[in-house]
Amino acid sequence: MKPAFNERIAGALEYRRQHDLARESKILTSLDEACIEFEGSRYVNFSSNDYLGLGRDKQLLEAWQHGLSLYGCGSGASPLVTGYSSAHADLESALCDWLGFERAILFSSGFSANQALIFGLLEKGDLLVQDKLNHASLMEAGLLSAADMKRFRHNDVQHLSSFLGKASNTLVMTEGVFSMDGDTAPLVDIQSACLDRAWLAVDDAHGIGVLGSDGRGSCDEAGIRPEILVVTFGKAFGLSGAAILCSQECGDYLTQFAKHHVYSTTIPPSQAYVLTHAIGMIQTQNWRREKLAELQGVYQSKLSQVNGFVDTTTPIKPFILGDSERALTFSNYLKASGLWVAAIRPPTVATNSARLRVTLTANHTKEQVVNLSDAILENINKGY
Ligand SMILES: Cc1ncc(COP(=O)(O)O)c(C=O)c1O
Repeated sequence: MKPAFNERIAGALEYRRQHDLARESKILTSLDEACIEFEGSRYVNFSSNDYLGLGRDKQLLEAWQHGLSLYGCGSGASPLVTGYSSAHADLESALCDWLGFERAILFSSGFSANQALIFGLLEKGDLLVQDKLNHASLMEAGLLSAADMKRFRHNDVQHLSSFLGKASNTLVMTEGVFSMDGDTAPLVDIQSACLDRAWLAVDDAHGIGVLGSDGRGSCDEAGIRPEILVVTFGKAFGLSGAAILCSQECGDYLTQFAKHHVYSTTIPPSQAYVLTHAIGMIQTQNWRREKLAELQGVYQSKLSQVNGFVDTTTPIKPFILGDSERALTFSNYLKASGLWVAAIRPPTVATNSARLRVTLTANHTKEQVVNLSDAILENINKGY
């Protein structure tokens, strides 16, 4: 029989186009700390996850260059072969010291860390209980895992509790800060619900560096310590990669059984070197978090009364517009004013909750945030 892949591909693409859900990668050039260029025009970028503004920091660029001169380009192999160096060991120790865990295991992305955790830890008969709004990497791993998966209503600890005590090995998984909503998980209550009945794993991709004392993240801010913490380096670190933090024994286990770690080329040693440098900057440069807090205050004071505004305590500021076409149109109007704010549409968010996902960074100026708020307000007042 002739394969029907072409029909499947054409049908799926047509559906996305017809429903304003098609996406594309645009070629963007980073101009300076806060601005990007697209097709010859300059935009202030309000869609970056580089919350602390480290991505183009000169000190960090120099550290990476120095790391390259010390270690060369690639790691050359997976970690259990010959890909693991003193730069990787130093990064793991720095993460453990900073975040208070015995072990840190490195991955080339948060997506692979989440998959490795779920596939590595859970077996048939185990139970994975996840917040409904968890990231696609967690949802997909849960669906493909041999374990059963239940999803609890967003941040609803009572609903979560109703799934506990039903399997001998249960893992509860939540994000610390939710990526598309910018709200935080009720970690104290979730940890109390887990007590003796489940291990708690927190994916703090969007909280690490931004929340907690010296940027230790959502768990530090809430005063809890989960069994497992996932941190990613593609957001507040301004780089890429990820780590799972855990006990000594769990780390030994993941070193043997986390396939995305064992069978994947280790991140370049120069990258591990610069990541260690970034940890130092995140810990000591409190001014970046203070600047973010100031910008958040400006945004809130301008828009808090406007329909669509969502109050959050993080740099992620969703502005809910409803249907996808409206979100796209709104995003295009902002582009016409030199403001780049991505429209986030289903399936990334629920149907009829398409939104602008505004993200603030320590590199924005107060004036840029005022301009964005004024432009949003103006478009709302015009009825867009
Ligand atoms: C909550 C969360 N976890 C994991 C990831 C994946 O991380 P990475 O981009 O490093 O693959 C993301 C990425 O957006 C995320 O938002």
